[in-house]
Parts: sequence; C-alpha cells; structure tokens
Amino acid sequence: MTSTQFILSRSPVMGIWLSEEVDVARRSASTRVLEYLDAAEVVGLGTGSTIGVFLKTAYDKLARKTLVASSIDTVLTARSLGLKLVEPLAVDSLDLYVDSADEVDPLGRMVKGGGGAMTMEKVLASAAKLRVFIVDELKLVPRIPHRSPVPVEVVPQAISIVRKKIESAGFMCRLRVPGGKRTPVITDIGGAIVDVEPPKQWEPEDIAKFLESVPGVIEHGIFVNYVDILVIGRLSGRVEVVSYRR
Ligand code: 5RP
Repeated sequence: MTSTQFILSRSPVMGIWLSEEVDVARRSASTRVLEYLDAAEVVGLGTGSTIGVFLKTAYDKLARKTLVASSIDTVLTARSLGLKLVEPLAVDSLDLYVDSADEVDPLGRMVKGGGGAMTMEKVLASAAKLRVFIVDELKLVPRIPHRSPVPVEVVPQAISIVRKKIESAGFMCRLRVPGGKRTPVITDIGGAIVDVEPPKQWEPEDIAKFLESVPGVIEHGIFVNYVDILVIGRLSGRVEVVSYRR
C-alpha cells in the first residue's frame, strides 16, 4: 500500500461523521475478516464497540470455534449473543486474534486501551499465530500517538510514585476516574489506568521502552509489531486490507 492510500479521505458533510457511516465501515470490514476464521480453531477476541460489531457479523462461524475474550465486557457481549467462551487460562496459544484500536499509523503501530483492556489484549495477541485488526478510517493517523492519550495500567498502590516518574520525563498524566469521582477506574485485572500524553517528539518505540522501565507499570497501550493484517473499513463501505506479515 502507498502512503497516499492510507490518508483519511474527507467527509462529504462538513467534517461531521455520521455514526451510521462508521457502522457501515465496521460491518464491511468485519465481513472481510470472516475468511480468516476458516482456518482457525482457537480465536481470541479484543474489546470495544468494533469487536461488538464483529461478534454479530461473524456469529455463525464463531459459534463453531473455541473463543477466548480479552475482557469481561467482551465475555458479556459474546454471551448475550449466545456464544460460549473458555477462560484465557485454558489456552496457551491461539490460531487467530481479532481486535480493533484507538489509532493506527502507516507502520501498523497502534494506540489501544481506550476500553482499559490492553494488558489482556496484548497477552492474547502475543500468543496468536495471526493477528487481525479492524479499524474504520477515522482511526487512521499519520503517526501514533496522535489524538488519543496512551493508557498505562498501573498497580493501584503505585499510582503516585509512577505518576511522578512519568511526569518527570515530561509526560502529562491523568488518572482515569469514573465521572465526577476521585476513586480510580479499576480494570478487570485489578489495575488503575493513567492516561498519558508523551512529549511530541518521542517515537512510539521510545515511549514503550520508557514506560516498560518504570516499576509499577503493568502494561501500556502502545502496540508495535502486533498487527499482521489490518482491515480498514472506509465510510463509503469500501474495505482495504493491508498486510504487515514479515
Ligand atoms: C480496548 C481497545 C479497543 O480496541 C479500542 O479502544 C477501540 O475500541 P472501539 O472499537 O470501541 O473504538 O483497545 O482496550
């Protein structure tokens, strides 16, 4: 793919994106992912609204697979559709992992964790033979992190110390709290989330390396080298598939 193909096309309606168009983009992209399910037995599922669309689109095929979810949210959505799952503990490798992202750049580098599930998402993706990510075109950015903060999952007792270390390196930090509260959001695995904004000049790889060096950080939302196939749903309904397989 050329870099021009990756550029976000302009909205026909004064920059206002209609949720219906986003839904069309996600449904068309999810339909394209069906072909990757045929060869897979154990399938990992990411978290978020795009994955919700994928679960509905792929229901018939998913119902015949061994499914493992990255979050309680995805377990509940899948169960509400009648899909059965196994615990992550019950598998040690996956044939296929399907997820979305908050942002993706032309090198396939992603920011994830808007839904706070990035630790198990990264764990499942790391154990999969093939990783397919579905994004609508609004998530394409020239370089990550662009608009989205980078979520960092932190041991709750370490929030103050971790925050000070990260802020000392020039990052802006915001503890994720439920609306109007001071108590942090606690993730499925018992972590707190600090959303960080790194200094503009930092490369994603350097951000990742730095965050991994801070004791008390469980995981972060920079995903480098995690995508094998990126399926992009355009708002027009057109789908593009980009391979990053080496
Ligand atoms: C959750 C994630 C999601 O993939 C990301 O937030 C995108 O979600 P959505 O499909 O709702 O836009 O990383 O931890």
